[in-house]
Amino acid sequence: MVAQSQPAISGPGLAVPRHVAIIMDGNGRWAVRHNKPRSVGHKRGAEAVREAIEGALNSGVEYLTLYAFSSENWNRPQDEVSDLMGLLKLYLSREVKTMHKQGVRLQVIGRKEMLSSDIREMISRAETLTAENSRLTLVIALSYGSRDEIVEAAKKLVGKVLEGKISASDITEDVLADELMTSSLPDPDLIIRTSGEQRLSNFLMWQAAYSEFLFLDLLWPDFSKETFQDAVSEYQTRDRRYGARPQ
Ligand code: FPP
Repeated sequence: MVAQSQPAISGPGLAVPRHVAIIMDGNGRWAVRHNKPRSVGHKRGAEAVREAIEGALNSGVEYLTLYAFSSENWNRPQDEVSDLMGLLKLYLSREVKTMHKQGVRLQVIGRKEMLSSDIREMISRAETLTAENSRLTLVIALSYGSRDEIVEAAKKLVGKVLEGKISASDITEDVLADELMTSSLPDPDLIIRTSGEQRLSNFLMWQAAYSEFLFLDLLWPDFSKETFQDAVSEYQTRDRRYGARPQ
């Protein structure tokens, strides 16, 4: 279990968010607007990932989680799924060295068993190479779905109860959170979604209980490190109370 961010009940003037999570949306609409195939939108989206990492490094954010491929994205047309998987491979082969030099630790959450063996191998090598880095933890959510994650956690707990390792009354919020794929991460302080859509789409639903939300009208390929910095500044004006009464 990881220590959660200290509740900042004091009102405006918040510290830099420790954990920022992003729903990267709008690659397809960006492509339509620029009269390009969807694959080009995704390619530009992968370039925007670099910007987000730079933004996080510049701002002093400790954890950046990116929703790159949801469990539902497998239902997209086969050629689009192949394009996205191809991009991911390209990204991992080209960017991991740079990330390592920048002090970034890479971690992947999601159903890795759904990914091809070569991608799983690349992920495993990248996670091992960067394991000791501590400037920024970059979490990529791949084949990830929040409901699926919670169901899996429930199954693990039931298994422990049936084996007599714990009793049902031992199950607390912390015990359940320890079975989630995010058990080593603090909850996200800020969740950003681009493209003007305002929903969570099965992303970090448990972890988002007290997150601040920021919905941006720009499309993901247009996201820049300056956008990231502006999002952090906007977050710092928020008043987080965690259900407490204002002082
Ligand atoms: C949403 O755009 C984006 C995705 C489904 C995938 C996100 C992937 C990337 C940013 C590129 C690869 C990622 C990495 C980490 C290398 P959309 O296609 O749903 O856009 P639309 O809603 O406008 O159609």
